[in-house]
Amino acid sequence: MTAQTLIDTARALVASDKGLLAMDESNATCNKRFAALGIPQTAAARRDWRELIVTAPGLGDSISGAILFDETIRQQTNAGQPFAEALSGAGIIPGIKVDTGAKPLAAHPGETVTEGLDGLRERLAEYAGMGARFAKWRGVIAIASGLPTRACIDVNAHALARYAALCQEAGLVPIVEPEVLMDGDHSLARCAEVTEEVLHRTFAELRAQGVLLEGMLLKPNMVLPGQKAATQDSVDAVADATMACLLRTVPAAVPGVAFLSGGQSAQLASARLNAMNTKYKSRMPWALTFSFSRAVQQPALDAWKGDAANVAEAQQALVFRTRCNQAARRGGYDTQRDAPR
Ligand code: 13P
Repeated sequence: MTAQTLIDTARALVASDKGLLAMDESNATCNKRFAALGIPQTAAARRDWRELIVTAPGLGDSISGAILFDETIRQQTNAGQPFAEALSGAGIIPGIKVDTGAKPLAAHPGETVTEGLDGLRERLAEYAGMGARFAKWRGVIAIASGLPTRACIDVNAHALARYAALCQEAGLVPIVEPEVLMDGDHSLARCAEVTEEVLHRTFAELRAQGVLLEGMLLKPNMVLPGQKAATQDSVDAVADATMACLLRTVPAAVPGVAFLSGGQSAQLASARLNAMNTKYKSRMPWALTFSFSRAVQQPALDAWKGDAANVAEAQQALVFRTRCNQAARRGGYDTQRDAPR
């Protein structure tokens, strides 16, 4: 596998003002979202939902790549086409989540380390054979009194870097996702401090493990006040804090930064991405885009409710949000109307 292949894939994933669609919820997470809407928590219902997404008309105009879960990459459309093939046919690059989840970190109550390195080389080869061209691994960092610890930041950064090196060996572009959670009542300034530290440590490990920066993407959180914080800062304040953090920590060689949404509303996620691209475009060395799950899928899931009669309406809701976020990449999202300009 040549470095050029990785670079070409990474660039293609951030080309044309498009973004990524995270549809890689684990079965447990997907079931939780289904349960809230009374949708059956079965493999068949999960397949129906993923088919709705993958076959949404026009999705490929605003989405460059979609991240699948292990169950989904092994499933097929009703017409018998594997999902990865259906995505490729729609002009969307198939990707795969390869971590096996965040597990309690020994001796560190309230913190986790993401697992999945054992056997990863073999799994990556299998996924590449099924058509995946990029991968994702999410480390999770919680903010609370006394947290995060240095130990938690270090083990997650180390695992992300080992994963990324293995991906590149297999010819898959790694999406490196160190997520600082928005749970809690901490301030914007505290999230900024933690996110900056996490990104510095992550890039130090990526360098130590020999990861090619030009052949990877970063998937960070936006810098936000905790969901329960008394002060909820303005869209501009979030944009300023997030950009200050990224400009200090993300090397210019990285082709793209694609945010997770992390529990923000669909509208706020679009508005904040729009503000960053409006105010800072000329200073950014990388593309600044989205890799949302909830902020793109939730309105569509609310419309679908597990009912085949609602498929077209749900697909429209999905593509509407991906178009809003594509517009936000250009600074062309109308915050008042919640629509592309
Ligand atoms: P959210 O956008 O819902 O945070 O999900 C993104 C993701 O891929 C989490 O790993």
